[in-house]
Amino acid sequence: RRRTRVHHLQQWKDAGEKWAMLTSYDALTAAVFDEAGIPALLVGDSAANTVFGMPSTLPVTLEHLLPLVRAVVAGAPHALVVADLPFGSYEASDVQAVQSAVRLMKEGGAHAVKLEGGVRTASRVRAVVAAGIPVMGHVGFTPQAEHALGGYRVQGRGEAGGQVLADARAVAEAGAFSVVLEMVPAEVAEQVTRTLAVPTVGIGAGAGCDAQVLVWQDFAGLSGRTATFVRKFADVRAVLSEAAREYAAEVRGGSFPGPEHSF
Ligand code: KIV
Ligand code: NA
Repeated sequence: RRRTRVHHLQQWKDAGEKWAMLTSYDALTAAVFDEAGIPALLVGDSAANTVFGMPSTLPVTLEHLLPLVRAVVAGAPHALVVADLPFGSYEASDVQAVQSAVRLMKEGGAHAVKLEGGVRTASRVRAVVAAGIPVMGHVGFTPQAEHALGGYRVQGRGEAGGQVLADARAVAEAGAFSVVLEMVPAEVAEQVTRTLAVPTVGIGAGAGCDAQVLVWQDFAGLSGRTATFVRKFADVRAVLSEAAREYAAEVRGGSFPGPEHSF
């Protein structure tokens, strides 16, 4: 198996083959997902919540994300590793966006970056692409703009569907190799997917997208409460909780460690 490249994702869209993406923030989960055949991994700024326990993605920085990007790249020999540009690392100017994206590539070893926004950030996408860095767009609900959008809400209902399409078009025209569609009506996501030449990656955007992405702690059932668009493919929280209880009980009862675990 060879390394997934951005042109493979395009080939899959052109061939009508769907693919799945997961987030990862460490070497061991990256290795497991890579071995399972997940072709693209996202070191999302969702690390703010899942790794650092922050209340939103806004506080997370490049300094937080860079070591996680290195860990995922080290753990995944085949997956395309996409790293999020965190809030504050690209808003000020196209120059700032290029500088931050370069850090994710150069210091993190990422293979591509992702940044949020449509029409409003298209010039950032263009600038980073011009630097030779593949960019994944992210439109619909964009968590870094939570306060401007009035909270976690579906974007593109009714009349607003046209804005989601315009946003997706803007980043595709700016050179994005793929676009994440987050929390948009399935019908709108389908229309965007038909319209764009590049693959769409849905999260809470229905089955009509070219690919899907989920936060791994959500899909594996490690997170507590999750959004309605998440399906738990495992119950890792229960497995770990049970293991921790059993371990503690065996230590208390003196049955662990046994002679076979001792020197
Ligand atoms: O940070 C993240 O995990 C994301 C995905 C949910 C698309 O941006
Ligand atoms: Na993100």
